[in-house]
Amino acid sequence: RQFLDIGTGLPTAENVHQIAQDITPGTRVVYVDNDPVVLAHARALLTSGPEGATDYIDADFREPARILEEAARTLDFDEPIALCLVALLHFVEDEVAYPAVRELIEALPAGSRLVLTHLTEDLNPSKIRAVRDTYTKRGFTFVLRSRDEVARFFEQSGLAVDEPGVVPVHHWRFEGGAPLPPEMEPHTLAALDDIEKVRYRDINDVTDADINVYAATGRKG
Ligand SMILES: C[S@@+](CC[C@H](N)C(=O)[O-])C[C@H]1O[C@@H](n2cnc3c(N)ncnc32)[C@H](O)[C@@H]1O
Repeated sequence: RQFLDIGTGLPTAENVHQIAQDITPGTRVVYVDNDPVVLAHARALLTSGPEGATDYIDADFREPARILEEAARTLDFDEPIALCLVALLHFVEDEVAYPAVRELIEALPAGSRLVLTHLTEDLNPSKIRAVRDTYTKRGFTFVLRSRDEVARFFEQSGLAVDEPGVVPVHHWRFEGGAPLPPEMEPHTLAALDDIEKVRYRDINDVTDADINVYAATGRKG
């Protein structure tokens, strides 16, 4: 019923509040990002249904105290909150990332969850190192973390990691892929260019070598 989503990214077809409010209309979501382009599009994130609420905070993950203070306008810190750090932490160096996550989790009540995904070089090193080099050349911090280093974000705060643990994202609660849409006959698929094909690729065909992202969730006791 409550989400704090830091590193929100540009609004997309189904944002966190739309997915959550479809299930529980009273859900409250606070979005946080430090990119002025995301801020410019933030209105699209402030479209809560009448029973719930959303807010957008233009802030840096490196200022957890400010985020917590401003999030308290919308979220009740006496009730569980899901802290979502999805595809964010690889942009933050160890000296900042581990203490900031610890500070955020300390502020959450029992029953809260940490939800994260994280880039790694454990699975397909050559491909992802090329990506890292591109970001680094352009002045971005880019930290690929191992499975153990990702697990440390949970362990340092005593969170119990949910099953199936820290896993390549396509293994997380995997129940089989959706079938191709009926209009997408194999010959239609074959005619698409490579980028378009990805949209319809059967998730069942994805291998660990295609995926450089770990996913995990964990619960504060
Ligand atoms: C790869 S996108 C992920 C977006 C979204 N969570 C998703 O998974 O689709 C990373 C986002 O984190 C934001 N970001 C990066 N560093 C940040 C920081 N220090 N503080 C706040 N946001 C940050 C970027 O602006 C970007 O919107």
